[in-house]
Order: sequence, then C-alpha cells, then structure tokens
Amino acid sequence: MPFYHKLGDIPRVKHTTFYKKDGKSLYREELYSSKGFSGIYSNKYYIHMPTSVESVREIKPFADAAWPDAPVLYFHFFTDKKVTKGDFISSRNLFLKNAHCRISTAHPSQDTDRFFRNAYHAELVFIHRGTGKFVSEYGQIPFVEGDQIIIPRAVTYQLKFDSYADNKIVIVESSTAYEVPRKYRTDYGQILEDAPYCERDFKLPEYMTPHDESGKFVVVLKAGERYFEHTLPWHPFNVVGWDGYLYPFAFNIKDYHPKVGRIHLPPPVHLAFNTGHFIVCNFVPRPYDFHPNAVPAPYFHSNIDSDEVLYYIDGDFMSRTGVVSGSITLHPGGMPHGPQPGRTEASVGAKETKEWALMIDTYEPLVPTIHVKETVDPAYAQSWLGGD
Ligand SMILES: [Fe+2]
Repeated sequence: MPFYHKLGDIPRVKHTTFYKKDGKSLYREELYSSKGFSGIYSNKYYIHMPTSVESVREIKPFADAAWPDAPVLYFHFFTDKKVTKGDFISSRNLFLKNAHCRISTAHPSQDTDRFFRNAYHAELVFIHRGTGKFVSEYGQIPFVEGDQIIIPRAVTYQLKFDSYADNKIVIVESSTAYEVPRKYRTDYGQILEDAPYCERDFKLPEYMTPHDESGKFVVVLKAGERYFEHTLPWHPFNVVGWDGYLYPFAFNIKDYHPKVGRIHLPPPVHLAFNTGHFIVCNFVPRPYDFHPNAVPAPYFHSNIDSDEVLYYIDGDFMSRTGVVSGSITLHPGGMPHGPQPGRTEASVGAKETKEWALMIDTYEPLVPTIHVKETVDPAYAQSWLGGD
C-alpha cells in the first residue's frame, strides 16, 4: 500500500518496552517487511509470540493438475463448469500457471476454522459472487461483489462468507508484490489526479478485537506447490495494534474510472495493478471512442512477449462471441489475436460498452492445467475460420 495506516494500540516509540495491563509482561513486536529491510513494512504487536508452532505436517489437498501435452493455442474455457465443494482453501481449482503467476477459481461452499497463509505468493482475490468478511491479523475488511482483495505474502487470513449458497472467487497468485503502478503515483507516493482511482477508493483493514485464545489453531501454509498444516497454540489474530505501509486492502472494480479516447486506446489505459511479472487490468462499462469513423473493437494484435488472459465477469464483451460470465480466454504470445468474425463490423457506430472483465497479461508463458482441458470450448480455437 502506498500510504500509512494504524490500528489499535502501539507504543509511542517503536522497539521500546510495551507492557501489557499487568505492567510486567511484554507485548511481542514483529517487523513485517518486504525486500529485506529496504521495502515497505509494518510493525505488529502480539499478545503472544508469533513464532509459536506446536506441530507441522505436509498435506496434499489437491490432485496434480498438470496437462503435460497441452497445445499452444487460443483457449476459451468455462470456469463455472469446474466446481469443487469445500472451504475457501480446498475449493480452489488451478487453471493457468507459470513460475510467477497462478490463476485459480473457487466456489467456496462451506465455512472452516482453518486459516490460510501463502508463503511464496501475494494474492489478488476477486469476489465475483458472495459477500462476507476478509479477516486477518490486521483486522477485517467487509467484502462485496466486485472487490479485489490484495493480500501480501505471508498474511494469515480467512474468508468468512455470509452464506454458502452461491459464492465464486478468482485467485491470482503473484511471486512479487501487487503495486499501484508507478505512473499513477507522485514522487511521494500519493495517487495522481489522472489515475483511475484514489486513496479514498481503497478499503483498509478495520479494527478487530484481538483474539486472546489458547487451543489448537490450524494454519494451512502454502509454499509454492507444497502445503503444510501448522498447528499453533494461540489464535493467530492476537494482535493488539499495528502500523505501517504493508497490509491487505481491497479495491472494487465498480470504483475504477475508465478513460476513453477519440480512437481505440490500448489496454494499458485499463491498468489497475502491476507486479514484477504481469499486470492486472479492469475493463468496465464506458462510452466508446468518439471519432466519427472510429472502430471501437480492438484491431488484431500480437503482444510478442506476453500471454493475455481475460476473465469475463458480466455484460456483453465487445470482441467475443460465445463467452459467458465466468469464462476465461487465453491468447498466448507468439500468435496474433483479435475480434471474432462479425464483431469488428458490429462495433462500428456503437456508442458504449457494458463489459466487465479482468485482464491478466503475463510476461512469461502460461501453462494450462487439466482443468482447462475439462472445461474447454472445443470450437473456440477455430472460430475465426470463414470470417472473411
Ligand atoms: Fe489483446
């Protein structure tokens, strides 16, 4: 996060004695920092030592999802056709992956007492359907449909849904941090006037009464493709206060202010967040280009050094036929892509689009998993044939 936030009780001076109410025992301070000691950080104050672990065991909650002979081709697949019952951890299905980015969806259908901590990846959790609370040692963030919850590495958290009848989330894991793009920030980090959002659009953690509870608390720790259950003797949310710049937050796609041009503007105008290895764009309803002869649908294009993934949320997507809410398309690098037959002509003269979508452009190739094979639209790759 690019700005300072503070919740709960913290000492006047950091790294000094901070006593509990008995006046004798100390709260435990943890510096939670990035890029060694050179990046943004926070200081958290626990009732109990954050290092207490009673036991650890490796678990294998997911079958191997590899699809070793997947072709390099255009893909369209239906993520709502792959539904695994389970909690916000076990219901995940991985569709696309590379060394720096992993894209999964989930339909959480049950609550859990388990906690989750992603050791090697930051996460963007998009709430497609469902409402509830994201809870972590930093406090709680109530979420609604359209929220993109940005979770730094190693935050311990739970997703508590209000109901378990019809939830859908998209999880985009990143080996590097999600950041507000540099071009949206001043030299001091404040978000610029012409950015598509500002600080007040971000949902920050709200204060939550510390959980001073002993017992057996299970944290599922994900480390790359390995999973461990760590059993802790204390509830992990026993934090009385914290301050700093490094913490989870949320931004709703409905708060994204789009830009339009006289002629078609390329996808960087839809940029929301970047990481070291991919970008995330928000496509939202907006007026179309206003040149009298404008072609609003995109031209055919080759992004020679990136793969392009679109997750379709809602509305009529201007360049695609056959996609539905919950569809994903993958257009790999090394192949040109563009509107399907008839879509360019149909866009001429149109005044607005009502599309809602997330786009993830990765700088390294993505590998489809077996879940893509199971849910694929078999006609998509040849859908441009006969278009002229
Ligand atoms: Fe594209």
